Amino acid sequence: MAFKSASRPNRSHAISPACVAAPVELKTGKPRREEVITGSPDNNITDYIYEKMGADLHRQADHPIGIIKQAIYDYFEARNPGLFVKFDDRFPIVSTRANFDEVLVPADHISRSPNDTYYVDASTVLRCHTSAHQAETLRAGHAAFLVTGDVYRRDSIDATHYPVFHQMEGVRVFSEADWTAAGLSPTQLAEQDLKAALEGLAKHLFGDVECRWIDAYFPFTDPSFELEIFFKGKWLEVLGCGVMEQRILDDNYKPGHKAWAFGLGLERLAMVLFDVPDIRLFWSNDDRFLKQFGAGDLTARFKPYSKFPACYKDMAFWVSPEFSENNLCELVRSIGGDLVEEVTCIDTFTNKKTGRTSNCYRIVYRSMERSLTDEEINALQERVRKEVAEVLKVELR
Ligand code: PHE
Repeated sequence: MAFKSASRPNRSHAISPACVAAPVELKTGKPRREEVITGSPDNNITDYIYEKMGADLHRQADHPIGIIKQAIYDYFEARNPGLFVKFDDRFPIVSTRANFDEVLVPADHISRSPNDTYYVDASTVLRCHTSAHQAETLRAGHAAFLVTGDVYRRDSIDATHYPVFHQMEGVRVFSEADWTAAGLSPTQLAEQDLKAALEGLAKHLFGDVECRWIDAYFPFTDPSFELEIFFKGKWLEVLGCGVMEQRILDDNYKPGHKAWAFGLGLERLAMVLFDVPDIRLFWSNDDRFLKQFGAGDLTARFKPYSKFPACYKDMAFWVSPEFSENNLCELVRSIGGDLVEEVTCIDTFTNKKTGRTSNCYRIVYRSMERSLTDEEINALQERVRKEVAEVLKVELR
């Protein structure tokens, strides 16, 4: 995940924090196409991505993503009745200021790269995390809140990565009376309550699972942690969290407070809880998938109804200096849509004499809903080859 990284972008034109947009008003609903695909030279959003907007899987009570959201709501409601205010309809188009600057993401942080983030224009993005709403919600005076929404990231393609997914952000602010009553330092109280709340959440969702805390790095928290749970024989990362950077609180709330924050991925939790093997299934309209889940039911386990055969195609090309795997995946998605299951580099070598590097990528095509014909896959692959050569300026071999 991009935010864990303290590294720098691999592109030179990081967005300067000085270039700050007027705050986007509190809008809701599905954005219009012109609001997303703007014609700005910085725009890197395809129709494939636009078509995913407004689906609001997290607002459907009997969809696995909506079921998980509600289960987390219920848990926090039982733990701290009436405390957390909930938002789940914040507009997904936000300023770079909200998405990055206000949560202290450094000007040269890798997550700002147009290789990783969808830009509407130079100062506006599709939020790449729900942390984009921390500062504005604190400014509105809320001391405890949960913000759920769809988030967008350019990434590789496999069974657990999809360019749109859902996160829930949690924030809780403490005041002096709280840490005095607890007999703890402000940071101790925040850290202790955070860990207790999230371990309790893991047990609420997964039963009596083993949990462990891993030290982590995020620009917006210090100290920072990741929670892992032991599930089906392996340790699995389920969320990032930490004690909120004091500056965020001081700049947007009131001085003299302390807070914790967490961000969790709903798909990750739903895949584990409901045994969903491929993240694309959440976007399927197939009743054979949707009918297996019901509002409030955490006991459902996905029963695969079929696995249609996969078909793979390899393509090798000499890469150009600007080549990036995320750009390749974006292009393949824009042609093959949800038929693309995985894109992996299966071979790479550098010619000693010319210094040129060749990559061979395998594209796996499979439908979740039907059998694909050879003609249809060949036609898709032909288009992929043509556009890879034209758009990515690489030389096919
Ligand atoms: N925004 C982080 C991410 O998307 C998660 C996070 C939220 C971590 C809040 C710490 C605190 O990876």
